[in-house]
Amino acid sequence: EKGGHEYFMLKEIEEQPEALANSLRGHFSGGRVVLDEQRISDQDLRDIDKVFVIACGSAYHSGLVAKYAIEHWCRLPVEVELASEFRYRDPVLDRDTLVVAVSQSGETMDTLEAVRHAREQKARVLAVCNTNGAQIPRESDAVLYTHAGPEIGVASTKAFLAQIAANYLVGLALAQARGTKYPDEVGREFAELEAMPKAVEQVLSTVGQVRELGARLADSKAVLFLGRHVGYPVALEGALKLKELAYMHAEGFAAGELKHGPIALIEKDLPVVVVMPSPRGRAVLHAKLVSNISEIQARGARTVVIAEEGDETVRPFADELIEVPAVSTLLQPLVSTVPLQVLAAEIARTRGYDVDKPRNLAKSVTVE
Ligand code: M6R
Repeated sequence: EKGGHEYFMLKEIEEQPEALANSLRGHFSGGRVVLDEQRISDQDLRDIDKVFVIACGSAYHSGLVAKYAIEHWCRLPVEVELASEFRYRDPVLDRDTLVVAVSQSGETMDTLEAVRHAREQKARVLAVCNTNGAQIPRESDAVLYTHAGPEIGVASTKAFLAQIAANYLVGLALAQARGTKYPDEVGREFAELEAMPKAVEQVLSTVGQVRELGARLADSKAVLFLGRHVGYPVALEGALKLKELAYMHAEGFAAGELKHGPIALIEKDLPVVVVMPSPRGRAVLHAKLVSNISEIQARGARTVVIAEEGDETVRPFADELIEVPAVSTLLQPLVSTVPLQVLAAEIARTRGYDVDKPRNLAKSVTVE
């Protein structure tokens, strides 16, 4: 049941600390990251020279986040592709390619067909899945299960956060196999991940503030989302949530692209949500985003800024400020996505829509 909540999605948003903790549990043992099933030899894992992440919707966004971590940790090229596009363009695949298929349901037809195509080309396939024994993990060479628990809301929330954590474990497993990270470094990264449920718990204390903001933004015509680095996929995810739940025009952009076109969309009172990087971790990007926000604000837009707590530099430019705890750059999506989920749900609720069952959508899409 909804556990006293008006809708399942809010309950599932609040279950995110637990979803993360459960998805990490047992995956670091004897000083090593361990997957659930591995029918790929250690030697074959060492020989991997390219990674594709294939997925749809929110799962695809979790892959976009993971690209930053896996390339950084493993020094391997990572391509992230929509599963529905992947097999129709003759991707270059061989035995040394690792294809990571991310799917909450494990039954998404686009992703399953992409997995089949990859295996026909002899690529190794690793599934990240939230559903035990689903078709995608059954047809894969290795599996890492997320333990977000059943997700009832059609819009993905806790499964998405768990997917990011699981994708990071895949990155760490590859880094340890390839030796691009020392075991103690892998251990430290894992420990940082283990601290995330607490950080997410802390973000949940802003739910009331964000719901109130959502109610005030509910009659906007459109909302734009901006981010850079790992904040860019977070912006895309925020926009997807708003489209699917509130039936509102929403777009996510890489903030650096603003001057190449999207800035023409900025007009008076248009809400623009900006996902700020940490001023400590990515000082250069932070400064660039501050200048973006000031430009947007000067054109009359209504700026909604998601920033690290204590980040005073953004305050003058933020019409609305939502603070998230300070965490390292790569882990930031785990905290900054949460307010965007709440915002979309609350805008939808205020507009009178069914938050858990948006129109025209199914929880798992089993047709191509
Ligand atoms: O079950 P899957 O993870 O394969 O589903 C993929 C997408 O259909 C899913 O993430 C969809 O985009 C959600 N409704 C987003 O909230």
